[in-house]
Amino acid sequence: MARYAYVNGRYVEHRQASVHIEDRGYQLADGVYEVVGVHDGRLIDETPHVDRLDRSLRELRIAWPVSRAALGFIMRELMRRNRLRDGLIYMQVTRGVARRDHAFPTVDVKPALVLTTKNTKRAGVDPGPGIAIKSQRDIRWERCDIKTVALLPNVLAKQAARESGAYEAWLIDADGYVTEGASTNAWIVTQDGELVTRPVDNGILAGVTRHTLKALCAALQLKFAERPFSLTEAKRAREAFITSATSFVTPVVKIDGEPVADGKVGPTARRLREEYVRFAATGASVT
Ligand code: PDD
Repeated sequence: MARYAYVNGRYVEHRQASVHIEDRGYQLADGVYEVVGVHDGRLIDETPHVDRLDRSLRELRIAWPVSRAALGFIMRELMRRNRLRDGLIYMQVTRGVARRDHAFPTVDVKPALVLTTKNTKRAGVDPGPGIAIKSQRDIRWERCDIKTVALLPNVLAKQAARESGAYEAWLIDADGYVTEGASTNAWIVTQDGELVTRPVDNGILAGVTRHTLKALCAALQLKFAERPFSLTEAKRAREAFITSATSFVTPVVKIDGEPVADGKVGPTARRLREEYVRFAATGASVT
């Protein structure tokens, strides 16, 4: 079965899909993206993802390439063509193709829109054995709230984690606090059972999964606090986990080679994953 990509108005075979060499995304990382999870044929949290795309575009003064309604249609059409039941939709908007110059093009340039999909195994309620984390200095810029394709520090941190046998990197700011993962948000459960995650500001991406989980915590009446937590606090936590559109809720059982608590998946992360998978199956959005 052919796999399709959407490129600037056309559905093209994935292996032949291409963009211009002077696309500003390619040359200057002048673009933004979104990843929307798909669970059992349903988009997870479509509205907040498209809202965040809108915000990223506005922050960088890139125009919408198509209407919001058209984007919704394109996502569904690509899912249909690729028979996507479980996995993700990747969408990217760059400022477009122009003669190379750091400043924005002065001529009218159309923003470029690309969508691809990826099939994965259906995410289940079983969180698996949990993952290992490696801490890394956060060397990113001061606008981590914008979901740009400029991901080199994230790439390097993730690679360092993988080379050390860990699955994800946790990025540590100058004061010793965990900002977030290379491509996920970071959470802990303290010894007295409080769920903690860093507040959203310019230092992290306001994760859609993070936001949904916050709402689930409130519904379940779990103790929850938004505050920075240090790497030391994380290492002494009762539990830790990560969230993202693709990892859902994934328990962390090791940080820098040391087990978190007894090194086994804890009940809070297990329960929240179950709740999140149940939520994903509804196709609803938390607003
Ligand atoms: N990553 N922080 C960063 C730096 C991220 O790149 C992501 C998402 C998140 C979690 O956000 P959300 O819950 O909205 O997925 C946090 C996506 C999945 C990616 O880059 O593939």
